[in-house]
Amino acid sequence: KEVKLWGGRFEESVTDAVEKFTESISFDKALYKQDIMGSKAHASMLAKQGLMSDSDRDTIIKGLDEIQRQIEAGEFVWRTDREDVHMNIEAALTDLVGEPAKKLHTARSRNDQVATDFRLWCRDAIDGIISRIKNLQIAMVELALQNEGLIVPGYTHLQRAQPVLLQHLLLAYVEQLERDAGRLLDCRARVNFCPLGACALAGTGLPIDRFMTSDALGFTAPMRNSIDAVSDRDFVLELLSANSITAVHLSRLGEEWVLWASEEFGFLTPSDKVSTGSSIMPQKKNPDPMELVRGKSARVIGDLVSLLVLCKGLPHAYNRDLQEDKEPVFDSVKAIVGMLEVSAEFAQNVSFNRERIQKALPAGHLDATTLADYLVKKGIPFRTSHDIVGRSVALCVSRNCELQDLSLDELNSLNPIFDKDVYEYLGVENSIKKFRSYGSTGSECVAGQLDYWMDKLSIS
Ligand code: ARG
Repeated sequence: KEVKLWGGRFEESVTDAVEKFTESISFDKALYKQDIMGSKAHASMLAKQGLMSDSDRDTIIKGLDEIQRQIEAGEFVWRTDREDVHMNIEAALTDLVGEPAKKLHTARSRNDQVATDFRLWCRDAIDGIISRIKNLQIAMVELALQNEGLIVPGYTHLQRAQPVLLQHLLLAYVEQLERDAGRLLDCRARVNFCPLGACALAGTGLPIDRFMTSDALGFTAPMRNSIDAVSDRDFVLELLSANSITAVHLSRLGEEWVLWASEEFGFLTPSDKVSTGSSIMPQKKNPDPMELVRGKSARVIGDLVSLLVLCKGLPHAYNRDLQEDKEPVFDSVKAIVGMLEVSAEFAQNVSFNRERIQKALPAGHLDATTLADYLVKKGIPFRTSHDIVGRSVALCVSRNCELQDLSLDELNSLNPIFDKDVYEYLGVENSIKKFRSYGSTGSECVAGQLDYWMDKLSIS
């Protein structure tokens, strides 16, 4: 058996069970690029500070480049007995270039190394998620552009409430996604500080330059406190919180579209490209991608909860528990990226069934609130008008008709103030024209929202 990099004080080697249990190479090899980038910056800094010769630095950098090439060519052998990505790469570098490699871990611990790698990884992950959020926003705006003027029932409690433009509903998702991206950007600003040089926990007596490595790696600045730098994983908690909120948004979209694709609603039809069938029922065409968007939100939330529980109650500084921080993060990022990509593809492959929606529109007294506003405009206090319209609706229910079917005499029997101009307020088409307030579903307001997003997302 190879002696461990930390093997000096040990007389016996670890059992196979312990080796298998404590390894992280099976998953943290995902950090290889960040680890190599960090090591190159660290070697350059050590040379500049006189802690390593320029020629050793060059040898190390060349060796690391070769290792990266081998990894990316699939030639590199990851070894469980070398525990994690940091020791795999360092030991392989020693195998490759010999003595100079032994200087690389000067003024460095795996504790600051892993925190640095992980921050770099999260930074890239955030950028990737944000670009996919933007793609989904674009897909939603384009879907809105294809469905100009289409009125759909708006629901509260899943009961018919008021008419809304479909565009208005689609743009609601675009707004939510914008805040999701904003949360990630806020998080990114806090992720982007450099732990490297914090060493195990206390810093070092060697003359390192933490500002140099921080700059070289594109961080804003080195972290001020070495104990904090190696201990805290709040940056991943933030990323996973942001992902969880995005996942909750997407799960609502998933639920809505699954519901709308049902025979009962029939408001939308996904194309075959985004549907799957049943192994037993030949007629089936299921909206599985959006069901899985809804379903995968569970694991994104679970990943956040795992990490919160992991970090809770840990004493300062580094604890090996923290090795368990990687898989939930990899899982969460993979899930959210897939959810965003598939939602965008679904949006590009779905059509709204105008006829079916129009046929469904008259039912449910969607214009009742507009009628109440009509009475308010005639000077009736809102509470009173609410009551009058409520009684009008009761009349409709007993007759199995809609508000616009009531005659002026019938309306006047409830209140004499109704005039024939009331019919300009009744019916879904009339009703929706009355919306005017900022942010409302009125067509001018929605057109304004669309202009805003087309400009912001550079859609022409
Ligand atoms: N593989 C560890 C992790 O992911 C880093 C190593 C720190 N280990 C240690 N014994 N100090 O957190």
